[in-house]
Order: sequence, then C-alpha cells, then structure tokens
Amino acid sequence: MRDSLMIKAAFSEPTERPPVWMMRQAGRFMPQYWEIKNKYSFLEMCKTPEIAADVTMLPVDLLDIDAAILFSDILVTGEAMGGELSFTQNIGPKFANPVRTQKDIDNLNTDCLGELQYVADAIKVIQQRLNGSIPLIGFAGAPFTVMSYLVEGGSSKDFKLTKLMLHNEPEMAHQLLSKIATVTADYLNLQIAAGVNAVQIFDSWAQALAWDDYKEFSHRYIAEIISKLNRKDIPVISFCKGSSVFAPLMAEAKPDVISIDWNVDLLDIKKRLPQGVAVQGNLDPHILYADKKVIKERIYRLFDRMKGENGFIFNLGHGIMPDIPFDNVKYAVEIIKQYPPQPPKGGIIAVGLS
Ligand code: CP3
Repeated sequence: MRDSLMIKAAFSEPTERPPVWMMRQAGRFMPQYWEIKNKYSFLEMCKTPEIAADVTMLPVDLLDIDAAILFSDILVTGEAMGGELSFTQNIGPKFANPVRTQKDIDNLNTDCLGELQYVADAIKVIQQRLNGSIPLIGFAGAPFTVMSYLVEGGSSKDFKLTKLMLHNEPEMAHQLLSKIATVTADYLNLQIAAGVNAVQIFDSWAQALAWDDYKEFSHRYIAEIISKLNRKDIPVISFCKGSSVFAPLMAEAKPDVISIDWNVDLLDIKKRLPQGVAVQGNLDPHILYADKKVIKERIYRLFDRMKGENGFIFNLGHGIMPDIPFDNVKYAVEIIKQYPPQPPKGGIIAVGLS
C-alpha cells in the first residue's frame, strides 16, 4: 500500500499521475446508495460492519477511484462520549442532550473507545474486500467542528451558542475541546491499529472562526491530536473549510497533506507551505453540475497548473452534493485518468516541400 499513487502523493513522492478521490464519495448522489439507505437508518448503516463495507465499496466498484474512505460520520465520537445522536432525513444530525453547562461537560466520557469498536470491525471487513487494491482512508471530526454540533445540538448557520461559549466561557470551551481531542486521538489510533492506510481530520466549520480564535480553539487541538498519532507510513490529511486562509497555520500542526477549499489557486498556496507538505483539492464541487465540456476544461486547467508538482491529490474543495449527477462524477474520474490528453494519432501531418 505504501507504493500506491495515493500514499506516495501524500508523502510528496513522484507519481505517474495525480491520484483521485472525492470527499463524500460514498453517499446520496449514488442511486446504489439509496437502495441500501431505503432499508436501514444512517446510524444502522455505520454500525453494521458488513453494510458500512458495502457502502464504502460503492465508489471503488462504480467509479474506480484511487482511495476508499471509511463509511461513517464525524459525529460518532460525540455519540461515544455520551451525546444522544440521531439523523433525520432533510434535517440532518441532532444531539438531543446538548452540551452547554459545566455539568454537561463533566458528564462527557473520555474512556469510550469500546463504544467505537464497530468502526474497527468495519475497517477489517473493508480491508478484506479491498484486498490490497487501493488504500483505505479513515477519518474523524476536528474538535471545534464536533464541539459545534454538541453545543448547538445539531447543524447551525452561525454557530452562535458555540462562539458564545468560546468568548464568554473560554475555560469551559477548552475543557470540552480537550476532552474531544483526547477521544479523537485515541479513536484515530484505533482506526490505524485496525488497518486504515491514511487518516483525514475534518474541520468543516473552521471557516466561521476569526484567526485568533482558530489558533486558540481549533489549531491547537488538531496539533495535539496529530502529535499523538501512530503515523509511521500513515499520512495525515488535515481538511478545513477555510484552508485558503488557515493553511500556513494548519501546516504548523505537521500534517502530511492539507486539503484546500476552492477559494484559492492551488499552486500559489502550495508554494506558501513548507517543503514536503502535499496539497489535496481543490475543484469547486459545483463544477460537477456543469456540462461535461466544462468539467473537463476546469479539471485539466487545474492539472496543467499543478503539472510537475509532487504532492498533489485531486479532490473537491468540499464534499459532493447529493444532487450532483452520478454520470458527471464518473466522467470526472475517467478524464482524470486520461490526463495528459494524448494528441490525436496522425494529428500533425508533415507536408513535404518539393
Ligand atoms: O466521504 C465519505 O463518503 C465518507 C462518509 C462520510 C459521511 N460524513 C457520510 C454521511 C464522511 C467523511 C462524513 C463527514 C461529515 N459528517 C462531515 C465533514 C465533511 C464535510 O462535508 O465537511 C460533517 C460536517 C458531518 C456531519 C453530518 N453528517 C451532517 C451535517 C449530515 C447531514 C448532511 C446533509 O447534507 O443532510 C450528515 C449525514 C451523513 N453523513 C450522510 C452521509 C452519507 C447522509 C445520511 C443520509 O443518507 O441521510
């Protein structure tokens, strides 16, 4: 697995072409996902290793992607710590017992790896199915993003209660973040022990934070987690929405790869990072709604820009939306594998002068 395109690119080693995978590649944009989803609840799918493996394998079998990502959710750590988690169609995740007071924080359990054993079991089944073909990426939510769901009790547009805790009760916020960071490091090490080949930390909502708050309440805990990982031969990918601003700071936490949103030129930001830090990204996922001609043009524009760079993994700047046409995603993967485009045979006709 160390010699796969994905792992080599993650360690900034040369590859014959950039590897491709996509955030949320195992999900609702696939008709085959719905065949499974119509029979089980989302959490049942995550917690039944055979079903989690079936869903993980969908993009591997149908898209011929270069890396698989574990089918699970970033909120399972919050649930293991004591959050009463549910997912409702069209509403999203909900914690019925939000964490807002000192007592709520004290009640959270950090000795809870046993609750997450089903993830280790799923990883073992997935690795049997992958049978050494491509790497499996494990993942966890970053403390700030997971905290936001615990405090708000679900998704939020403005993170009002979460930010209020950071600003009015910083000590409480640090206790909560520290507890989540402890569990997250243990949880990622559990995934590594079970057999994942790379890990990604998702800080989806970091973009809501001011620079100083990002540094104090997010970056610091991601750095703590990364420093605790058993990462020999296991690249660590750090993703946040807002990485076009925060990437230089994210690099200080020492990930191998930074996953970049679509607001910035990928080569420019790579040049601003320390040598040996790879980048992943950064197509605007909305491009995948567009005509195929546009999809090809925009992907090849990105590839031309990154030509000759080691340490480039193709991905989207954020996850695939559920209503993106499956056929467009398949097309994107196909044309990526055909890059660089070959000139048509006999395209240049030499005309001799007589
Ligand atoms: O990438 C993959 O294919 C692997 C699986 C995966 C899921 N969630 C499956 C999922 C991963 C890596 C995640 C991460 C995740 N979960 C994030 C970070 C990624 C990002 O996009 O920033 C976040 C913020 C969550 C929390 C979460 N889970 C939300 C907000 C929702 C509702 C989403 C919505 O748009 O309604 C979920 C549910 C979820 N997680 C689904 C899937 C396939 C949909 C469940 C369903 O079928 O109803």
